[in-house]
Amino acid sequence: MTFIKEQEEYVNNILKDLGYFLEDLNILPSSKRELGSFQLNIAMSLAKKYHKNPMEIAKEITDKLGDNYINVNIASPGFINFSFKEQFLLDYLNKSLKDFSLLVEKHEEKTIFLDYGGANAAKALHVGHMRSPNIGEAMRRLANFLGDKTISDVHLGDLGRQAGMLISEIKLREPDLPFFNPDYKGDYPKIEYTPEYLGELYVAANQKAINDEKRMQEVREITADIDKGNERYIALWKQLVNISLVSIKEVYDKLNCHFDLWEGELDSFKDVPKMLEVLKPYLYESNGALVIDVKENNDTKEMPPLIVIKQDGATIYATRDLATIYSREKRFKPDEYWYFTDNRQSLYFEQVFRASYKSGLVPKDTKLLHFGFGTINGKDGKPYKTRDGGVMELGSLIDLIGEELAPKIKDNNEDVKEKLTIATLKYADLMSFRNTDYIFDPEKFASFDGKTGPYILYTVVRLKSLLKKSDIKNYELKEIPNSEVLDVLLKILELPTVLNRSYNDKSLNYITDFLFDLASLFNKFYNNYHILTEENENTKISYIAMTKLVYNVMHTLLNILAIDEVDMM
Ligand code: ARG
Repeated sequence: MTFIKEQEEYVNNILKDLGYFLEDLNILPSSKRELGSFQLNIAMSLAKKYHKNPMEIAKEITDKLGDNYINVNIASPGFINFSFKEQFLLDYLNKSLKDFSLLVEKHEEKTIFLDYGGANAAKALHVGHMRSPNIGEAMRRLANFLGDKTISDVHLGDLGRQAGMLISEIKLREPDLPFFNPDYKGDYPKIEYTPEYLGELYVAANQKAINDEKRMQEVREITADIDKGNERYIALWKQLVNISLVSIKEVYDKLNCHFDLWEGELDSFKDVPKMLEVLKPYLYESNGALVIDVKENNDTKEMPPLIVIKQDGATIYATRDLATIYSREKRFKPDEYWYFTDNRQSLYFEQVFRASYKSGLVPKDTKLLHFGFGTINGKDGKPYKTRDGGVMELGSLIDLIGEELAPKIKDNNEDVKEKLTIATLKYADLMSFRNTDYIFDPEKFASFDGKTGPYILYTVVRLKSLLKKSDIKNYELKEIPNSEVLDVLLKILELPTVLNRSYNDKSLNYITDFLFDLASLFNKFYNNYHILTEENENTKISYIAMTKLVYNVMHTLLNILAIDEVDMM
C-alpha cells in the first residue's frame, strides 16, 4: 500500500475508535509548510455531521496520533497540521527505491477495450489525427500500469469516398486489370504501388471529379459498390488500404503507438447482418431510412434518432460502429470501452451507445464511454493550418518541430532530434486538459525552458548523468539534509494521487504537471547544492538516492506518456 493511503487508513481507524465515520478522508500536502508538511481538513465536516465543536474533534484526533506524527498542531477552526518523523518517511521511500510498486495504488483488474487512432486509409494523417493516438496510447499504458487488461484497436476509416476516387483513377489508367472485368474468375494480381503513387492518384482523381459531374458520379457508384460487397473492387481496395497503411504505420510508430488490432470499418461488414438482427425490434422506417430512437425521458438536449441504414440501403459510419461493437462484444466482452475522438463526435457516440444498450447489443453493466478532446488551433483560434492555409499533415507537423529543435541539439545528433521532436509534440499535446482546445506554438513547445518536453528530457539527462558519474550504487536515503530535498521527497508521495486523477479523468495533464513540478524541484536542489563533491558521506549518499528515486519516477511517467528518453542533448 502507498504511504499516504496507509496513513489515511490509520487515521480512519482512529476515527472509528472515536465513534466517527467519514466517507473520504484525505491527507493533503500542506498549503502552509511552516505549520507542517501535511494537513487533515476533516474536523470541520465531522463537526457538522456530529454537531460538535471542530476544535474539540481535532483535539480528540490529534491526541490519538502516534509517534510517527510530529509537530502536530491545530489551526482554527480545526485544521490539523503535522509532519511525519523523518525516519518513518525514509523507511518507506527506501523500500520504494527497491520496489517501485509501493508508490503505485493498483486497482481491481478490469478489461478495457480502447478505440483510438482512427486514421483514414489512403489519406494522409493530419493535425486533427494527433490527439487520439497520443491520449489513447497513454491511457492504455496508464490503465495497464494500474492493473487493467487492455485491448487496443486503431479502427481504421477504410470506407468512403477515397476508395471510389482511387479506383476510378486506376480504372482510367489501367482498364485491363481484372478488377474491372465482371467476368473475371480466379486470383487477383498483386498491385505494386507505392504510398506516394496512391497520393498522386488521389490528387489526380479529386481534381478531375470536382470539375466533372460524370466522373463524380462514377466515384459515388464505385464507393456504393464497395459498400454493397462488390468483390472485385473490395479485392483491389484492400490492397490499396494495405499500401497506405505503410505510411500510416510509420507515423504511429514515430508516436510510439501500439495497437493490438489493426481492424477497420471494412472488417465490420461481415457483422452488419447479425448486428441488424439484434437491433431489428427497435428499428423503424423514416423517409426510407432505417432508424432507432435513442431519446430518453430526462434528456435536456435534442437527441435525434440514429440512422442505421441509409435510404439507398447503404451502410454509414454508425452502421459500422454498431457492427464493430457486435464483433468486439462477441470476442472480448470487455468491462469498459473507451473511445477517444474529437469532441465533435460526442453526440454521435451518445446515440450509438444508447442504441447499443437499448437493443441489448451491449449489456447494461458494460461501460461504453466516449472521451472527447479539444482542437489543436493556430494563433487565430482556428484549427492549425499550414502557412498558406492548407491542411497541415501530421508528418509535416513533426518535421516542423524537428526544424525548430535542430539548431539547439548537440552535434546535430539525428536520433536525439527525433526523440526530442516526439517528446515536444506529445508533452504539449497531453499538457492541456483533454477537453480543451489549445494553441499550437512550435517555438514555445520546443523551448528548453518552461513547461515543455525538452525541459523534462533535459532534466532526465541530468539525472542519468549524475547517477553515472557517482560511484555510489547502493541507493539509500540516510537523512533529509535540507528543505530542497524534503520538497522533492514530499512531491514524490503525491504520485499515486496524480496517477489516479489522470485515470479517472482520462486526461494526462496531471502527469505532465507533476513531471514539471518534480523536475523543477529537483533542479532547484541541483542549483543550490554540489552533489558529487559533497563531503558529508551520509548527505552525499542521500543526494544520490534521491536522484535515483526521482529518475525512477520520471522514467516511469515518461514511459506511460509514451515519450522516449535520451542520453544527451
Ligand atoms: N476515422 C474516424 C475519423 O477520422 C475516427 C474513428 C473513430 N473511431 C470509431 N470507432 N468511430 O474521424
